Amino acid sequence: MDLTASDAQQSIRELARKFARERIEPRARAHDREERISFELLKEMASLGLMGVNVPHELGGAGAGAIAYALAMIEVAAACASTSVVMAVTNMCAELITRFGTQAQKAKYVPRLVSGEAIAGAFALSEPHCGSDAAALKTSAERRLDSWVLNGSKQWITSGAYAGVMVVWARTSGGARGISAFIVEGKHPGLHVGKPEDKMGLRGSNTVALTFEDCAIPLDNLLGQEGDGFKLAMIALDGGRIGIASQACGVTRAALEASIRYARDRRAFDRRIADFQAIQWFLANIATDLSAAELLTLRAASLKEAGAPFTREASMAKLLASEMAYRACDKAVQIHGGYGYIDEFPVERYLRDARVQTLYEGTSEIQRLVIAREVIKAHSA
Ligand code: CAA
Repeated sequence: MDLTASDAQQSIRELARKFARERIEPRARAHDREERISFELLKEMASLGLMGVNVPHELGGAGAGAIAYALAMIEVAAACASTSVVMAVTNMCAELITRFGTQAQKAKYVPRLVSGEAIAGAFALSEPHCGSDAAALKTSAERRLDSWVLNGSKQWITSGAYAGVMVVWARTSGGARGISAFIVEGKHPGLHVGKPEDKMGLRGSNTVALTFEDCAIPLDNLLGQEGDGFKLAMIALDGGRIGIASQACGVTRAALEASIRYARDRRAFDRRIADFQAIQWFLANIATDLSAAELLTLRAASLKEAGAPFTREASMAKLLASEMAYRACDKAVQIHGGYGYIDEFPVERYLRDARVQTLYEGTSEIQRLVIAREVIKAHSA
């Protein structure tokens, strides 16, 4: 398997890197402190194609593929994890509508997402009583003469306060087969937005609960077939997990670079601390783990791009990369000593931002469950 980036992939990576370094990174600390990301910045990202990296040109996307998406996500996450999660969820919604939407849905909603007109996309699956057990969701969608009427609550919705286009999962009958997906526009009557969660990390990204109270949406806003919603969610999450694995690689790369800079500057016992073996081993372990995580992530992305099954590989990449990122950021704080514990240096933010990666888009335990099912299935085939 050749994982060398093509010229086109290389140029998306360069474009994302330049933008991330010049425009996003200088604001990352403010995003964290002020708990917001400017809409102008998100629109600028959209104008560069970063909100629809794997969405075809005819729908306004960059048409650059799943590998380019992973490479771009690593660059954005290395600059600001909060910004990267907005990018991840928007790409996920745009790809899902591109794949399962009707011609009319694609024409109406995908260009809005990828152009920045919608600011962001939101993925409303989890509920207050169910995250891992997604099939237990209770939000209902009742078919009336000319509309679907949604009632229920969603929890942990990234960009939920301002997303212009949301994909919302609701129950249309009993069991996993009774779940359907719907497109809901932001600020729709009957859709209420809760107060932003006061999170440990990713503080620049908005996370809210949503409540649907007799929220009537057009019949045409059913996404995919009635009853196919659970599968759509799983398919979207397979791709989403490559995004979170890439995010974890980006944050880890930033932590490694900050640690190398610090270790070269800081002196103790008449030497740079980079000259001590203890510090060198920390750096060597982070660099090695990061390379392994990047390879797994790019392997999953290359299978996705080739149209091959990639459920197992996406979960492996997400599991390894997210657990590695938290370990690496913790070591980065250790290398910085007391300076790692104050916000003058970015590593404390990296540690807080990395923590959620083993939780969202499926906990590490859910990734292990998916991987185990897949390997047992492959063995018995
Ligand atoms: N692709 C296609 N179909 C799939 C699939 C996949 N990857 N995984 C499962 N399915 C299908 C199954 O084949 C099955 O189909 P049939 O009924 O036709 O046989 C159906 O879906 C049900 O599958 P399971 O029996 O495996 O379902 P389950 O209830 O045992 O649960 C699970 C599976 C893997 C635990 C799943 O519930 C899961 O992934 N949970 C975690 C949810 C999650 O990641 N939530 C994240 C929230 S979103 C988020 O964080 C976004 C954000 O804002 C950052």
